[in-house]
Amino acid sequence: MKFSLNVDHVAFLRNARAEENPDPVTFALMAEQFGIDGIVVHLREDRRHINERDLRLLREQLKTKLDLEMAAVQEIIDIACDVQPDLVTLVPEKREELTTEGGLNVIDNLELIKNAIERLHQENIPVSLFIEPDITQIDVSAEINADFIEIHTGVFANTQTEEEMFDELEIIRQAAKHAKKLGLGVNAGHGLNYQNIKEFIAIKNIDEVSIGQAVIARAVFVGLEKAIKEMIELINK
Ligand code: PXP
Repeated sequence: MKFSLNVDHVAFLRNARAEENPDPVTFALMAEQFGIDGIVVHLREDRRHINERDLRLLREQLKTKLDLEMAAVQEIIDIACDVQPDLVTLVPEKREELTTEGGLNVIDNLELIKNAIERLHQENIPVSLFIEPDITQIDVSAEINADFIEIHTGVFANTQTEEEMFDELEIIRQAAKHAKKLGLGVNAGHGLNYQNIKEFIAIKNIDEVSIGQAVIARAVFVGLEKAIKEMIELINK
């Protein structure tokens, strides 16, 4: 299982003072040195975290993989086509939300998402759809030629009892297996942390996890190198 680090929170901290520090690009380059497999950023319509300068510098300087999370809106699709990330992950986006609140409803937004995939494919950019671990959503994602799905793990992360957690893990396990059978790549993320990753790694068929909050928060206390290496150790167990 690979591990990509989401650095949006670093940009959020920088933007709090409208100054230059901490620079999410420098942070991402350091994270690469410490062994992560890729960097994830969400270019939001309101630019509350990273901005175009960050995105273009990341594209120029990253040696691993750049995964651009974004809404399927024309302005951002145009930027993605120009910047050429290694992967685009389409996510739902609401202005009022603190963070992405759930998976895309691919069925209700079929034409919009299908058109976005087609446009990005014209530029040879692979596309992942951030969805719930739901068999119908997975089937439709495959039908409209998504390359990957990213399974939303927020429900799993928020479970209150062991029983609920194992039920949710089973749902994710079945979803990942089904997606693989259809030839989709399978990523996962949201709310994964140093505790729940220990159970999560038992799931087969997950290519990559995308983690932000837990690792950035830990880095505040112990430094980035230790925070990353601790997570890599748990993932590789
Ligand atoms: N994957 C997606 C699609 C997300 O929107 C987020 C949150 O930005 C993450 C993964 C990472 O979630 P977290 O910050 O809770 O680790």
